[in-house]
Amino acid sequence: MSSTVITNIASLVTNDPSLGDTSPLGLIQDAAVVIDGDRIAWTGESSKAPATDHRVDAGGRAVIPGFVDSHSHLVFAGDRTQEFNARMSGRSYSAGGIRTTVAATRAATDAELEAGLVRYLAEALRQGTTTFETKSGYGLTVEDEARALRIAAAHTDEVTYLGAHVVSPDYADDPAGYVALVTGEMLDACAPYARWIDVFCEKGAFDGDQARAILTAGKRKGLHPRVHANQLSYGPGVQLAVELDAASADHCTHLTDADVDALAHSRTVATLLPGAEFSTRAEWPNARRLLDAGVTVALSTDCNPGSSFTSSVPFCIALAVRDMGMTPDEAVWSATAGGAQALRRTDVGRLTPGAYADLAVLDAPSHVHLAYRPGVPLVTEVWRRGSRVA
Ligand code: NIG
Ligand code: FE
Repeated sequence: MSSTVITNIASLVTNDPSLGDTSPLGLIQDAAVVIDGDRIAWTGESSKAPATDHRVDAGGRAVIPGFVDSHSHLVFAGDRTQEFNARMSGRSYSAGGIRTTVAATRAATDAELEAGLVRYLAEALRQGTTTFETKSGYGLTVEDEARALRIAAAHTDEVTYLGAHVVSPDYADDPAGYVALVTGEMLDACAPYARWIDVFCEKGAFDGDQARAILTAGKRKGLHPRVHANQLSYGPGVQLAVELDAASADHCTHLTDADVDALAHSRTVATLLPGAEFSTRAEWPNARRLLDAGVTVALSTDCNPGSSFTSSVPFCIALAVRDMGMTPDEAVWSATAGGAQALRRTDVGRLTPGAYADLAVLDAPSHVHLAYRPGVPLVTEVWRRGSRVA
């Protein structure tokens, strides 16, 4: 196994809380990282770096853990430019547009769906994302949901069954019949490819009782819950996520004090998706309120063709800092360690000995520039599993 040291790092984000600096980022100035095979072997001050087989000079740039994008919808076909244009002329977002993508996705070949996924993953990787979750939810038949998950599973371990995205148009008059399908035959066909089960708990999608039945059926099959919760309105999603020990409640835009309190006393991470509020011109989720209450917050893209067609975590960091009350340190933590926690992972989202050597080199002296220089492509190098990939 060969070892490499990356030296001359102006500022290194490790997310190692034991480093004892005042920030949870575990910052080291004038740092070096030693990589052994696919893992981090050592981090510390450059002058103390041990001898290795290879040496790479970071040129005084910053290094951060690769982003962990814990929420995306990347297996789809088609385009919703018209819907976006209509929204930007004043129309409001409704999840009804999901059906447009369902029709296009059903009509696409496996090769077309996979080519789209690969393209968005490459796009995300170039912007520093080294771990990503992705979901089904644009098939809504047994065959189309299972194939979306099969295609996704060839590219990531973090695959989520979202047959309960909206009621399939084929069951418009029989929502109970669709819930029976999602918890029966469709679940049986999808579970082998997935780690997670998700439900869009929202008016116009699935109510609290339906969502509980769907997530409970998934749990019995060995899938772990996560929930699209409280995105468009107040509702039972967050409380349900906490009740079922979901890894994450996602969106969290409309929260009561009781919702915030429930999250703060749980293991459930609040995953905020500012790309969605940006692209739907909706009210921002209040990250400050969640953080001040002690809730663990993750930041992700929600990349999908309807509500948030961005694969850029740096863009989401800039929005979260500008408009959601997060500090740059908090936003970078949430997009790395927070995302890992939303996937219940300890081997990514941090640069500590034993973790995967997944990292991004920024053309900047510190991680703060991700928010300070919005829209500028600062990610100049990406390493995944110990190799340079972008
Ligand atoms: O997370 N909220 C539900 N699902 C997606 C939107 C999907 C779509 O509009 O196609 C979301 O925002
Ligand atoms: Fe989503």
